[in-house]
Amino acid sequence: MTQAAEQELADVGVTGLAVMGANLARNLARNGFRVAVHNRSRAKTDKLIEEHGDDGTFVATEEMEDFVQSLATPRKIIIMVKAGGPTDAVIDQLVPLLDTDDIVVDAGNAHWDDTRRREKALKEQGIRFVGTGVSGGEEGALNGPSIMPGGDADAYSHLAPMLEKISAQVDGEPCCRHIGPDAAGHFVKMVHNGIEYADMQLIAEAYDVIRSLTGMSPAELAEEFKRWNTGVLDSFLIEITAEVLAKVDERTGKPLVDVILDAAAQKGTGTWTVQSALSLGVPVGAIAEAVFARAVSSQPEQRAAVRERFGDVTAEQADDAKALIDDVEQALYASKIVAYAQGFDLIRTASNEFEWGVNPGDLATIWRGGCIIRAAFLDRIKEAYEANPDLANLLVDNTFAADVEKAEAAWRRVIGRAVNAGIPVPAFSASLAYFDSLRRGRLPAAVVQGQRDLFGAHTYKRIDAEGSFHVEWSGDGSESPAD
Ligand code: 6PG
Repeated sequence: MTQAAEQELADVGVTGLAVMGANLARNLARNGFRVAVHNRSRAKTDKLIEEHGDDGTFVATEEMEDFVQSLATPRKIIIMVKAGGPTDAVIDQLVPLLDTDDIVVDAGNAHWDDTRRREKALKEQGIRFVGTGVSGGEEGALNGPSIMPGGDADAYSHLAPMLEKISAQVDGEPCCRHIGPDAAGHFVKMVHNGIEYADMQLIAEAYDVIRSLTGMSPAELAEEFKRWNTGVLDSFLIEITAEVLAKVDERTGKPLVDVILDAAAQKGTGTWTVQSALSLGVPVGAIAEAVFARAVSSQPEQRAAVRERFGDVTAEQADDAKALIDDVEQALYASKIVAYAQGFDLIRTASNEFEWGVNPGDLATIWRGGCIIRAAFLDRIKEAYEANPDLANLLVDNTFAADVEKAEAAWRRVIGRAVNAGIPVPAFSASLAYFDSLRRGRLPAAVVQGQRDLFGAHTYKRIDAEGSFHVEWSGDGSESPAD
């Protein structure tokens, strides 16, 4: 190939030009990279060039073969198609066209187990597969997402100049770092989404408690959320909640939130987080309750039947709105600390299990910008893990421990008032129960062990002797060593 032809080759390719893929391609082009673009249907490729061709240098291709041939080696190809089968289909199409050491980046919300399988399979063919979390939605993809690449460290060294340049930047640092080998990146992105679900549910519960007990309008609540966004709860999700609550529905003139059907959907990453936590034996109750709250909201028949039998909840109006709002702010913050503590515990457990060597301080650093859970709070998490990378639990970091101590009374008051008023607060309650369980000297698990030994001879351990034991419950009732 002539030198001129070599120079014409693209630095990176993006296949899959729905909004996320197109925006990522535009972000790369805007940052000076030559970007080859491909889509199964040519129309999306043409649309991108027609509407945004002046963002930078694009190499529009139609056939997958042309797309691959238009790339400088080692080729760097970003796949941005639906997780699951569509991703496998694109990989199957690509692999026969690639050379040793080429790099395939899956930037979709793939399940981490699929990524482990794909990375292993492609490695056997000499091709590097990098499962990468990309957070920040369409706006983030265009203007700077938080990027969580996994896979081979050497492959990352080829990707870093691009990914770190197009990512969000906070204090001059890119919100992109190599997370760890094989599926570490997609696992971390999944847990990011699990924490996101918990954060969103906790905010929704905070809204429900205040509105139900004070009768404040969504517009008034929007002002409170804006105020919260200047304090410890300063975050993207608080900011956008204020925007959602302030929005007036053009069709009816009512608050938009009052005409949105109260049935929450999900694309699945929250469910995967809980399934993964169950498999790894990690308690993530705040995240699980957020996933189940979406499921409960999407049970119209059961909801109607139970409401018909028991009647709806009508909460008694509080006469201390200001105090209640301040209490809810503290309860939300304490519950949020628990949700992040659970998410980071899950990531550490998986990292140890799969020998990924994930650095929790890195995650807090790259989540400070670009991603959906970006928040000032993450600076404190970064400091906590930099001060003590082996922190037993985020709750015992000095700063967070002091925050929880300060918030505890309000946390309990809010949950107590909600429970007594019949306002469901599953994520708030699960967060407090997690905190209370971890701090208890004696948990009722001893009763569970006794039950299990009686009906299933599953044995139990003692607090005053080594080994396992079993009681002859249906015999003479004697205890015998069970090892
Ligand atoms: C992000 C978001 C994004 C999320 C979708 C769907 O980090 O940009 O987490 O990846 O998956 O917005 O979210 P649901 O699972 O709630 O449908």
